[in-house]
Amino acid sequence: MSTQRTRFEAAGQGHVLAHWESLGTAEQAAFEAQLERVDLELTRQLGERLAVESEEDSPALAPPEVFPATVSGEKIAERDRAAARGAELLAAGRVGFVLVAGGQGSRLGFDGPKGAYEIGPVTSKSLFEWHAARIQAAGTRHGFQPRWYVMTSAANDAATRAFFDVNGHFGFDPADVFLFQQDMLPALDGEGKIVLAAPGTLFLAPNGHGGTLAALKSSGALADMAAHGIEQLSYFQVDNPLGRHADPLFIGLHDLAAAEMSSKVVAKRDAAEKVGVLGLLDGVLGCIEYSDLSDDLRHATDEGGALLFNAGNIAAHVIRRDFVEGLTEGGDLDLPWHVARKNLKCLSSDGQPVERPGVKFETFIFDALARTSASVVLEVLREEEFSPVKNAEGSDSPATTRADLTRIAAEISGAADAAVELDPRLAETPGEFTQRAPLADRTPNGVVFRPGQR
Ligand code: UTP
Repeated sequence: MSTQRTRFEAAGQGHVLAHWESLGTAEQAAFEAQLERVDLELTRQLGERLAVESEEDSPALAPPEVFPATVSGEKIAERDRAAARGAELLAAGRVGFVLVAGGQGSRLGFDGPKGAYEIGPVTSKSLFEWHAARIQAAGTRHGFQPRWYVMTSAANDAATRAFFDVNGHFGFDPADVFLFQQDMLPALDGEGKIVLAAPGTLFLAPNGHGGTLAALKSSGALADMAAHGIEQLSYFQVDNPLGRHADPLFIGLHDLAAAEMSSKVVAKRDAAEKVGVLGLLDGVLGCIEYSDLSDDLRHATDEGGALLFNAGNIAAHVIRRDFVEGLTEGGDLDLPWHVARKNLKCLSSDGQPVERPGVKFETFIFDALARTSASVVLEVLREEEFSPVKNAEGSDSPATTRADLTRIAAEISGAADAAVELDPRLAETPGEFTQRAPLADRTPNGVVFRPGQR
């Protein structure tokens, strides 16, 4: 223990050991293991940033070039060529699937990994199973055996692994599922001191979805992809069961443009929707936060009357494996840190449980867009592809996502029953449904269409 005591004291963080003597042997061992993993140099740098939060100059903002959701004229041939290329890459097994599920899902307030949340309107299928079903559907459609990479964090890794085990990996061969963990960082108080969650527990938080890149490298996932001939990563978030993770058009556009990282966007609902938009900041591609757009720019329109800053980021990307390899070479990724000020349930300096302001630090995956030399932005239709579970109630909640799953199932199947659910493995388009409907199990409890054995 003396090593950690010396290390933490030298860094001005010795207070974390104030309760050491009161801990049992097992607690001490667990705490020591936690302390060993803390990067105190990084913690120091982040703490210093708090003291000098810089007023950066506002960059000049411009909208990005977007490949539209509906095309006409010459673009039709371009679209078809790209979709054919994407289908080719999928069939050749060149695409791996990366789900990020290391977040804490605090807005939803669900006790467990968000992916375990039961979102199926009729069957209560979990978010994890929807993603599994979408990937497996792609495997069947294009004739390849998908590999699935799932990022967790220390906060939910054990529970996620257990959930995958209990559910038979949702029909995946466990050998085709690669679970890996992102790093966690200590939360700090306003003075840069590490916060304790309990006497023998640091207050740790996942380091943001930008942590995916370093975790892909350090976990060996990148090497595993290389060994399996995977060149492109389809990156998606756990909260959106509508996501089309194996979209030939998206993959093909990205590949034909020799892009390193590409993004899907949806048109904003209106100027006031609080969503980040993709755009150019001083000519460099990135995500413009809602709060960084002036009221004028939020409402600015193009000659057709559409919002100029309209490319709502849905955090679905295709990323070249060698781009991630390049970014993570030498270990220092250097994505910008974002500061989240939150009320933390933690321990006061005299050891009492309190709720008080603190700071968490995160990096964001979309900041890697600035490092690309080529990148495609594809617009997709919100009603077809985006309905995230973020909040417990209201917009972007389980109720709105279930309603969207039901609506889409009804549109594809033609069934007008009040509650309809359609397993992506049976069909994701009306064409597939017509072809495969004779093979469907139609089960009670509302109408559930799922792949049958007949
Ligand atoms: P969100 O930004 O919605 O955060 O994550 P969250 O932690 O899930 O939810 P709140 O904000 O606490 O309510 C978007 C996606 O990024 C993943 C999440 O799991 C989700 O799929 N994510 C986020 C990570 O994998 N790691 C992180 O550190 C943060």
